[in-house]
Amino acid sequence: MTHGDYSQGHSRVERNYGALGSTSSGVLVSVEGLTVAQGERVLVDDVGFTLAPGERVGLIGASGSGKSLTASAIMGLLPEDLTASGSVRFGDQELLGASERTLSGLRGKDLGMVFQEPMTALNPAMRVGRQVAEALTIHGTGRRAANRRARELLDRVGLPERTARAYPHELSGGQRQRVLLAAALANDPALLICDEPTTALDVTVQAQVLELIAEGVRERGTTLLFITHDLAVVASVCDRVLVCRDGRIVEEGPVRDVLSNPEHEYTRQLLEAAL
Ligand SMILES: Nc1ncnc2c1ncn2[C@@H]1O[C@H](COP(=O)(O)OP(=O)(O)OP(=O)(O)O)[C@@H](O)[C@H]1O
Ligand SMILES: [Mg+2]
Repeated sequence: MTHGDYSQGHSRVERNYGALGSTSSGVLVSVEGLTVAQGERVLVDDVGFTLAPGERVGLIGASGSGKSLTASAIMGLLPEDLTASGSVRFGDQELLGASERTLSGLRGKDLGMVFQEPMTALNPAMRVGRQVAEALTIHGTGRRAANRRARELLDRVGLPERTARAYPHELSGGQRQRVLLAAALANDPALLICDEPTTALDVTVQAQVLELIAEGVRERGTTLLFITHDLAVVASVCDRVLVCRDGRIVEEGPVRDVLSNPEHEYTRQLLEAAL
């Protein structure tokens, strides 16, 4: 499988993947034969792809095609009534079937995530500065250093210092999503998964948050899996794209190639619908 021309035109930060074991294969995440089912009903069907370190990959497809379940399977966050089989490797670590202890050690540290609805991911009763700091203290940073770092992180996503003392309900949707991005990037994760992170925001705010995500991953050399319906977003943020349909990956390739010359009929329909 080729990874396309993902290094072109973007400066890359060299990362140290020591804690994750070997990435000498040039692969950070390897998904193979991933199948998610509810009883007999197959929802994700034999999905396979790899993510190279620093690569930014879009996962597109119609509603219900299995994008979010694929992301949840990687994170170890599938609902309990669903079963997963196959393999999801992160560095040298098999994530599918890994213990909750292993997964919670990785989540929020090596694996960052930003979902569509920021309110559900924030604690309504805790000041947002504290929530960003907790992303750090949970994984071992001391309280004072974490508080200082949280203020820096909030500043980096364009939130003024007083925002740290606000509660989530006092912020706009775009500000909440910035808080979540700050928290997701706090531990400098090797992989960031964004699942429709801007869909709930209005258009001008969408563009700002998108730029912050792109900037955040670019300056850290973070690998990005970006789920969206929006092909323009894929074109601006991603190097490579995977097209999902009915639980399967039906097409993949460098963004430029897929968007300018789609091979699969379904990808053509997606493109036409987006025009
Ligand atoms: N907890 C669940 N139990 C049963 N079926 C589910 C569950 N979650 C999702 N599904 C089903 O699995 C399929 C894939 O869902 P998924 O949420 O991955 O779609 P998606 O591609 O993310 O769609 P969208 O673009 O609307 O977010 C859908 O048919 C959905 O109804
Ligand atoms: Mg979804």
